[in-house]
Amino acid sequence: MANIDDDNISNESLNETMEEVVAARLSRRGLLTASALTGMSALLASVPAAAKKAPKQLLGFAAIPVSSADAIVVPDGYTAKVLISWGDPVGRGPAFKSDASNTAAEQAEQWGMHNDGLVYFPIDGSERGLLVQNHEYTDDVLLFTDGTANWSQEKTNKSLAAHGVGIIEVKRRGHDHDDDHDDDDHDDDDRRHPRRQRGWRVVRNSKYARRITGMTPITLGGPAAGDPRLITSADPTGRQVLGTLNNCAMGYTPWGTYLTCEENFNGYFRKAGVQTALEKRYGITAAGFGYLWHTTDSRFSADAEPNEANRFGWVTEIDPFDPESTPIKRTALGRFKHEGAWVQEARDGRVVVYSGDDEQFEYIYRFVSALPWRKAIKRGKSPLDEGTLYVAKFNADGTGEWLPLTTTNPALAGWSMADILINTRGAADKAGATKMDRPEWIDTFPDQLTAIATLTNNSRRGVGTNPAVDAVNPRSPNPYGHIIRWCYRTDWTEATFGWDIFALAGDPANPATGSTIVGDKYGSPDGIYVDPSGRLWIQTDVSGSTINAGPYAGFGNNQMLCADPWTGETRRFLVGPNVCEVTGVFVTPDQKSMFVGIQHPGEAPTGVNDPLNPNRYSSWPDGATGGRPRSSTIVITKDDGGVIGT
Ligand code: FEO
Ligand code: CA
Ligand code: CA
Repeated sequence: MANIDDDNISNESLNETMEEVVAARLSRRGLLTASALTGMSALLASVPAAAKKAPKQLLGFAAIPVSSADAIVVPDGYTAKVLISWGDPVGRGPAFKSDASNTAAEQAEQWGMHNDGLVYFPIDGSERGLLVQNHEYTDDVLLFTDGTANWSQEKTNKSLAAHGVGIIEVKRRGHDHDDDHDDDDHDDDDRRHPRRQRGWRVVRNSKYARRITGMTPITLGGPAAGDPRLITSADPTGRQVLGTLNNCAMGYTPWGTYLTCEENFNGYFRKAGVQTALEKRYGITAAGFGYLWHTTDSRFSADAEPNEANRFGWVTEIDPFDPESTPIKRTALGRFKHEGAWVQEARDGRVVVYSGDDEQFEYIYRFVSALPWRKAIKRGKSPLDEGTLYVAKFNADGTGEWLPLTTTNPALAGWSMADILINTRGAADKAGATKMDRPEWIDTFPDQLTAIATLTNNSRRGVGTNPAVDAVNPRSPNPYGHIIRWCYRTDWTEATFGWDIFALAGDPANPATGSTIVGDKYGSPDGIYVDPSGRLWIQTDVSGSTINAGPYAGFGNNQMLCADPWTGETRRFLVGPNVCEVTGVFVTPDQKSMFVGIQHPGEAPTGVNDPLNPNRYSSWPDGATGGRPRSSTIVITKDDGGVIGT
C-alpha cells in the first residue's frame, strides 16, 4: 500500500481548473484511505452542478449471513421465485426435457444457457414489459444427455443456439384470482401451471418472444464495416455475420434498444498455426476454451477462416420491440472483450457509453457520440455509429484522463480508423492507457456525474514480471478485487476526471485481506447496478475453484449485496445456490420487483461436469428429480409490496 502514499503529482498535462477541482473534491486522505464516506462526500461537495443532499436511509432490510445452501436465500420479508430457466420456451416453443435431449432446433426456441446481464423494458409500467437477457456461454457437458461425447454438427448447432440473447414478455398479477381478461389468460402455460397466475410469469403467446443465437444473421455497422479484415469466404461484403457470442453484461439506450456485449469470444476459436499479432493480442489460441465447434464448423477454425474471429468482440444493438429487426454490431464502440456497454446521456443529448475489457491488465473505455442522439436519429443515423472512442488513464494523484483513440492522436500515427476499431487493444496500448485488474460492469449515478466500476480481481498483479501495483490497482496480488469511481465537473463528456476507490473487497473483520468494506464481506465484484433511488447493488463472481476455499474460506456461495453509496454501508441481500454466479439485475420502474440472474449453478468447481451425474454439485432449481441444474432468472418481491432494498 506504500505506493499510494506517494504525494507526487505526476500529470503535468492537467490544466489548472481540473487541479483545483480535484484538490477540492478528493481530499488526499479520503482518497488514500478509500473511505467511502469521505471520498463520496468530498466528490459531491465540490460539484455544484451535481450537488445533492444525501437521501434518507436507503437500506432497510436486515442483512443475511453467508450461505452454502443449494438454494436462493433472501432477507426476511422478501420472496424470490424462479421466472424462467434454461430450456424453457420463450414463446409457444417446445418444453424443456430434463435429460437435455432437446434438439438444436428446439433450443433455438428456448431460453438459452447461462443467463447474464438483463434489462426490463416497460410496456405497461411495472406490470408488464420485455425482459431481455444475455446467454453468455454453455456448459456443453450439461447441454447434452451424453455430454460432449460423439460431437457432431447437431451438437455444435445446439451449443450455438444456447448462446446469444433471449427476449420474453413478462407480466405481473397482483391477485390470486384472474383479474384481467386479455388473451394471455388463456395461454397454455397458465393452464399447466395455475399456481403461477400470481406474481410474474412469462407471456408465452407474446409477439415479442424471440431468441437471438450464435446463428442469427447480424449486420456489421459503423466505420469498420466492410473492412477487408472482416471478410470471410461466406461473406464477401464484410458486413453480414452469423450470431453474437459470449454475451456478458449489457446496456440500453434512451431510444429503447438493448446493447449486448461480446466478451470472451476468443475461446470459441482455434488457431493451430502460428498466431498473428492480432490473434495473440486477443487470445486466439490452439487450445481455446475447450469448445468443439471448430471440429464441425470451419468458421471457428482460425486456420481455415482467419477473419471470422474479427467479427466478434463487438457491442451488438437489438430492438426488442421489433421481432423482425436485424441486430447490428456497432463497430464504433471498438473491439475487445466488452463486459458491458452502459449508456449515460450527456447534457446536450450526446450519449456516453462505458465499457470494461475484462481480462487481467486490460482497460476501461468510453465512447462519446458525435451527435445528440435525437438529432442523429432524426438524420437517419445511429448515434452509436459516429463518435470518439477513448481509453482511461488513471493518474496517481486521483485525477485521470480519457485518451482519444483517433487517427489524429500522435500516439496512433499511421493507424486508420478501422485499424483502431479492429485492434482496439493495440491502439489503447499505444495511447498509454492504465492496465486494470479486470474491468467488469460500469454504472452511473446520473445526478452526481459519477461513474462506478468493478475490478473483479487479478491474481497476477505485481507477481513476477507482471505490472506492479499502482494507485488505482493498489493490491498485489488482488484476489478480492475492488470498486472504483470517477466524477466530472459539469458534464459526462469532459476529457478529465477525478477518481477514488469506493471499496477494496475482502473481509473487513480480517485486516489481512486489506478490505475497506463498511459492512458485509465479499470479493470478486462483477455485476454492479445503481437502482433509481441510488442504491448500489453488487454481485459477485468468485470462480468455482475458490468458492468458500483458500482466500474465500468462510465467504459462502456467490452473492448480491446492497450498498448505500453515501455512507458506504454494505449489506448482504442474496446468496445463490451452489457454484452459481449471481449476475444480471434490474428493477421495474416502481422498484417493487427485481429481476436477478443466477448463472451456472452446479458448474464443476474444477475440471468438467459428468453427464452421468449432472446434479452432483447442484440440483437447483428443480431439485434432485430435475435432471440437471439450470441457470435461471428469478424475481424478487417484498412481501409487503414495498420497494426492494427498503
Ligand atoms: Fe462475463 Fe467478465 O464476466
Ligand atoms: Ca461478468
Ligand atoms: Ca466475472
